[in-house]
Amino acid sequence: MTAQGPVAGDPGRALAVQQMFDRIAPTYDLANRVLSMGVDTLWRRRAIAALGEGARGQVLDLCAGTMDITLAVLAGGARCVTALDFSAEMLACGRQRLPEGAPVTVVQGDAQDLKLDDASFDAGLCGFGLRNVPDNRLALAQLYRVLRPGGRFAVLEFFRPVRGDARAFHAVFNKLVLPTVGGLISGDRAAYAYLADSMQTYLRRPEFEDLAREVGFEIVSGQELLPPVASLVVVQKPGASA
Ligand SMILES: C[S@@+](CC[C@H](N)C(=O)[O-])C[C@H]1O[C@@H](n2cnc3c(N)ncnc32)[C@H](O)[C@@H]1O
Repeated sequence: MTAQGPVAGDPGRALAVQQMFDRIAPTYDLANRVLSMGVDTLWRRRAIAALGEGARGQVLDLCAGTMDITLAVLAGGARCVTALDFSAEMLACGRQRLPEGAPVTVVQGDAQDLKLDDASFDAGLCGFGLRNVPDNRLALAQLYRVLRPGGRFAVLEFFRPVRGDARAFHAVFNKLVLPTVGGLISGDRAAYAYLADSMQTYLRRPEFEDLAREVGFEIVSGQELLPPVASLVVVQKPGASA
């Protein structure tokens, strides 16, 4: 595993988030399975399908956590995957799940300051990581830099809910079920309360798409998924197809 330096942007907030993920890492997968009832697996598959041929090349899994996306991309035939996250404990749990000899480079680092080569990835994904990153513009600019021209990046995220049905779902599921069930499984209710609250203070999907455009991306698609809480945004670096 290669390690990178301190976190850019808002170091205080970032450090607290990093420590929180380190704490909940051992129970993260179980909590995810129970809370999502498997629907997150479908979301991830959909995100990978949206990458087209790039998903079979060199792929970046940003905020990889315990590597659900890394594993899914590998199963889909990716040549190699770089799994990057700033939580050493999340990565350690993910590493245990990798098949022997899997073509995965594990990098501990900050999404806002990628120590990765320019134009080195055919495609990339970030699952439910970016709303924890203090400066999304910095992170998007970094993603733009490391993608090859024509490369796509898929973002699965819980944006701040706008529609009435999404707000109702948020009020019941995220504010009540998430902290209660996540808290019971992890023993850390505060961590799951943070995850719910962070949706309320994050960008709305159109605001995120505007930021992506500002750093140079084209928006391929942006849509709400079901249940009406997660969204998938697919962006592309202009240029010849990867
Ligand atoms: C909710 S988890 C999602 C993990 C995985 N992508 C998934 O779909 O299950 C969010 C991850 O983002 C990571 N993360 C948050 N801020 C980060 C940053 N600034 N740089 C790198 N990783 C970060 C956390 O450590 C955590 O593993």
